[in-house]
Amino acid sequence: MVNQILFPLSLVVIILCFPNVFAQAQAPAQPPVTLPPPVAPVTLPPPVAPVAQPPPVAPVAQPPAQVQPVTMGPAPAGPTNLTAILEKAGHFTTLIRLLRSTQIDAEIYKQLNDSSQGLTVFAPTDNAFGNLTQGILNSYSDQQKFQLVKFHLLPSFFSLPEFQTVSNPMSTEAGSNSQYPLNVTTTGSVVNVSTGVVNVTVDGTVYTDNQLAVYQVDQVLLPLSFFVTPAPAPAPSLLVPKKKAPSPSAQSTSNSDDSDTSTTTASGAIRLAINAMSLAGFVVAALSLCA
Ligand SMILES: *[C@@H]1O[C@H](CO)[C@@H](O)[C@H](O)[C@H]1NC(C)=O
Ligand SMILES: *[C@@H]1O[C@H](CO)[C@@H](O)[C@H](O)[C@H]1NC(C)=O
Ligand SMILES: *[C@@H]1O[C@H](CO)[C@@H](O)[C@H](O)[C@H]1NC(C)=O
Ligand SMILES: *[C@@H]1O[C@H](CO)[C@@H](O)[C@H](O)[C@H]1NC(C)=O
Ligand SMILES: *[C@@H]1O[C@H](CO)[C@@H](O)[C@H](O)[C@H]1NC(C)=O
Ligand SMILES: *[C@@H]1O[C@H](CO)[C@@H](O)[C@H](O)[C@H]1NC(C)=O
Repeated sequence: MVNQILFPLSLVVIILCFPNVFAQAQAPAQPPVTLPPPVAPVTLPPPVAPVAQPPPVAPVAQPPAQVQPVTMGPAPAGPTNLTAILEKAGHFTTLIRLLRSTQIDAEIYKQLNDSSQGLTVFAPTDNAFGNLTQGILNSYSDQQKFQLVKFHLLPSFFSLPEFQTVSNPMSTEAGSNSQYPLNVTTTGSVVNVSTGVVNVTVDGTVYTDNQLAVYQVDQVLLPLSFFVTPAPAPAPSLLVPKKKAPSPSAQSTSNSDDSDTSTTTASGAIRLAINAMSLAGFVVAALSLCA
């Protein structure tokens, strides 16, 4: 409850204190010198604009079949290899890179071998990743990248027609459907996926057998929680530096992956601290940062 008050409040304070930060978000020419990367998730406008515009061409008319399915030839011994399927399709290099760096590729391989439940993958194209706000992917911690990839995985096999009868929100491998809600809706053979920040229509089937289904989407499915939780917010991390001071040599502020991880850990601890503070105390402490 305190967080719900503090988070918007801290945003206001940050805006008042650091107007130049928000100016930077609109003028990407200036490199962010003084700030840790986690600022980005808060300042960015959710990439919803393209979806909100009325589509010039009636999209319902397109059958979800324009994607050429990958045929893998005679099945080799052992589990299906998602990475190999995506490689063969040819325009999923960013997704493949993320699957490897998070080691979710190996996890999936094992999962497909061990479980009869199957797996459904919403696979964003390279174009989809290219359309993300610049720098946002690098601004995510390793944990967030892990959750982002997992959010694109449903822990069982769904054929496209089977989506007509699912109940929303669906559970993804990122977590519970209350924490990471994902809705799948259908109109005839058109299948839409909605996260609360992104609406996208499934472009077609990259691969399907009765165990693994890979569907192409032209937008990255950003989880709503990446935009509303206080975890990656700048407010906590701006209060951190004094506590982290004892080990100044340990980190550089300008690097992506390592510093992201440590900032996330630290902000988790700070969130606990903030919970213990009174509202008035927070306001005073935060406003004193302006001076
Ligand atoms: C899956 O395929 C990829 C790409 O061909 C390959 O790099 C990887 O080693 C394979 N994984 C397994 C577990 O065989
Ligand atoms: C697949 O599972 C079987 C047992 O269910 C196991 O013997 C085999 O080693 C597994 N293969 C791989 C590649 O994990
Ligand atoms: C991605 O960006 C390209 C051009 O930058 C645009 O043509 C395309 O419509 C965008 N796609 C989506 C899904 O926003
Ligand atoms: C799916 O998305 C398309 C394009 O945005 C829209 O026209 C259609 O009404 C949506 N269908 C459902 C069931 O949400
Ligand atoms: C998802 O579906 C549930 C249940 O129909 C609904 O309450 C919720 O608003 C939907 N969320 C989005 C983002 O469409
Ligand atoms: C997604 O679609 C739903 C229903 O069609 C609409 O209410 C919502 O505003 C859309 N969200 C975005 C982010 O475009």
